[in-house]
Amino acid sequence: METGIKNLRIKYQGENSIDPCLELLVEHGVLVIEDFLVEDMLKSLIQEYENILKLENDVISAIDYPQGVARRIEFSKLDANSFPKTHEVFNMEFMKKVTNRYLGTPNHFNHEIYVARDEHEEFNALNKLHYDKLSTLKFFLYLNDIDKSNGAFEAVPGSHKLAQSIMEFYRKRGKKLAKLPNRELPEELQNAVPMEAKAGSLIVFTTDTYHRAGRVEKGKNRMIMRGHSRPDPMPKYSPSIFSKQWFNESILNPSRYIYGVSDLIGGKEA
Ligand SMILES: [Fe+2]
Repeated sequence: METGIKNLRIKYQGENSIDPCLELLVEHGVLVIEDFLVEDMLKSLIQEYENILKLENDVISAIDYPQGVARRIEFSKLDANSFPKTHEVFNMEFMKKVTNRYLGTPNHFNHEIYVARDEHEEFNALNKLHYDKLSTLKFFLYLNDIDKSNGAFEAVPGSHKLAQSIMEFYRKRGKKLAKLPNRELPEELQNAVPMEAKAGSLIVFTTDTYHRAGRVEKGKNRMIMRGHSRPDPMPKYSPSIFSKQWFNESILNPSRYIYGVSDLIGGKEA
C-alpha cells in the first residue's frame, strides 16, 4: 500500500468518524475510510451491484462510459425492496451528516449513484488530471481490492484549494461553468497519489480536488459504486438568456474579455 497517503486514512468507527472525516476533507479534499463495510454487507452489496449492471429501466440508465460498463441510478426512485443494501448504504446517517456539514443544507444528498465495472481500455479523458466543473461531494466505495494495477482512483491532496480559487476567479468574471478550463494544469500538480485500498473501503472526496481515473491493466477490473451530492440550488452550467452572466459573455458586452488560464498561474492577472 502507498505510504504517502497514510495521513489521509482513517478506520471507520461509526458516527465518531464524522469529525475526523470532515477535518481531512476540508484540509486535503480527499480521504480513505478503511473497513467502512463489514464483510456480510459487502457481499450482499456486490450481489446488488452485479444485478444493477445488468439492468436498464426508468431509474437505472446505461451511460456512455469509456472504461467499461456503468449505470446511473436516480437514487430517490430506487426500489428499496429490490435493492435494500444499496438503499441502506447510500442513506447512511454518516454520509448524510458529513454532507450536511460539508455542503450545508439544503442539499441534494446522494441524488445519483454511479455503479461501474472498469476494465482495461485505451487512454481516455477520465485518465487526465482535472477538477470537475460541477462541484460534487462523492462517496466512492471500493467493492474489490484496488491498487495501482486495477485503477486506483488518483488525486492530488490539497489541490481543491487551488481549483476553488481558479473557479472563483472565473465565476466573478461571469464565465460559464461549462467553459471553465478544468484540464489546464499548473506544473506543481502533476503528482497524483493513487488511493489504494481494500474492498469495503470508502473514499470521500470533493471533485474540486484535481483527480483522475486510474488505468486498469489487461485481465483485471475495478468494481465501484459512488454516491454524488451537490448543493441546493445546484450550480447552473448555462446562464439563462439575458441574465447578467449571459450578458458578461455576450458579444453585446463592449467590455467582454476572454480570460485564459495563464491569467491565474503565479498570480499574474491580466
Ligand atoms: Fe472527474
